[in-house]
Amino acid sequence: MKFFVDTADTAEIADLAATGLLDGVTTNPSLIAKSGRDFIEVTKEICHLTHGPVSAEVVALDHAGMMREAEILRKIADNVCIKVPLTIDGLKTCKKLTADGTMVNVTLCFSANQALLAAKAGATFVSPFVGRHDDNGFDGMDLIRDIRLIYDNYAYETEILVASIRHGIHILESARIGADVITAPPAVIKGLFKHVLTEKGIEGFLADWAKTGQSIG
Ligand code: E4P
Repeated sequence: MKFFVDTADTAEIADLAATGLLDGVTTNPSLIAKSGRDFIEVTKEICHLTHGPVSAEVVALDHAGMMREAEILRKIADNVCIKVPLTIDGLKTCKKLTADGTMVNVTLCFSANQALLAAKAGATFVSPFVGRHDDNGFDGMDLIRDIRLIYDNYAYETEILVASIRHGIHILESARIGADVITAPPAVIKGLFKHVLTEKGIEGFLADWAKTGQSIG
């Protein structure tokens, strides 16, 4: 399963990239606003921090406008992935861009039928938002199960990119189901490293090591 980080904070991206586990980055207009940085400039910087896909989202709502924005965004770097909303115009744009060899992430997916449409439009990634789905009284992980089943039934190549992740259980379940990619905030990814017994174990080993009076090197 690939790990993407969901942020426009370049210090966080660099930190995670150094662990070697980062396969890509997703951003959205809210995350760009939170960074306080210029969209093009920060996207360019992110594209240098990872070789993996970097999702940059269009804000136009019509196909022509989305294509205009995508033209600008895809010139930033070869690893830019254009993010479009799951609407009719979004899927028209998806079809056109992927036919040209540009990666597309279809975002704001909340139903398995929507995911089916994204696959038929040739999306590189589809982003079902599990956290927001849970927040609205649905089971986000059931959505991922349904999409996996449908994509496997027809051997669709669109990758399931589990988005709007809130905690480690979302990641564990994504791996169990066989999702292709997860994107999560830096704090959630960093939380995966932690275990109380790991910390207790380190403490115990260091206490015993101190008794030896030795040092390494
Ligand atoms: C995914 O690409 C989105 O940027 C993101 O996961 C949305 O998450 P949120 O529901 O925490 O805003």
